[in-house]
Amino acid sequence: MTAETGDHDAEDDIATAGVTAEQTATADRLMAPARQFVDQVRALFADGLEESVLWGRIGEELRTLLAAPELRAHTGTWPDTKVGNGPPSNLLFYEDPDYGFVMNALVKSPGSVTFVHDHGLSWTLYGVLAGGEHIERYTRTDDNPVDTGPAELKHVDAFDVSPGFVDVVPPWQIHQEMNGADRTIGFIVRSRRSGTFPQYRYNRESGEIMKSGGPTQIPFALS
Ligand SMILES: [Fe+2]
Repeated sequence: MTAETGDHDAEDDIATAGVTAEQTATADRLMAPARQFVDQVRALFADGLEESVLWGRIGEELRTLLAAPELRAHTGTWPDTKVGNGPPSNLLFYEDPDYGFVMNALVKSPGSVTFVHDHGLSWTLYGVLAGGEHIERYTRTDDNPVDTGPAELKHVDAFDVSPGFVDVVPPWQIHQEMNGADRTIGFIVRSRRSGTFPQYRYNRESGEIMKSGGPTQIPFALS
């Protein structure tokens, strides 16, 4: 299964989306529940856990953060970052200077649908704060090159997510998100900032694979 070999190198043509360290919040500027979450995540990284264990544990901490009234109240200031079938962008709240994980938000307008895509080599925790959507998952059944294909996709899972749910998305997992009738707010923790490594979009009919930099990053204060 070439899609799971993880043998990509970061490529020169993947831009850093113009985001500098100065534009991402330092931990001491974050609201208290988010700062506490960052401290917990950093402690988990420092423990040197195996990646799937690490991200499962971070997911448990994220469930607690999603319930924080201060965070939920703050979402009233967050703009939509994906409208209809347009390209996605993310609010960028924090990038860890030592371990590289980031905190993002993706705010989808009602009925918004994503490409069939993966998140490349990164781990992603997708926590739902409001609204709800439908997720479809796929796996590759071909042995063609991971980044050029053509890809043969097999549908393997489908489920709905609602507020409080945390979806743990391992590297290279292929999926599609279909928003419901409400505005859906996802609070996301990624192992690396999008824009610094290649991600891929898939055409299910033709098997074409398209490289992407992932969602555009918009620095945004979570204080
Ligand atoms: Fe995704």
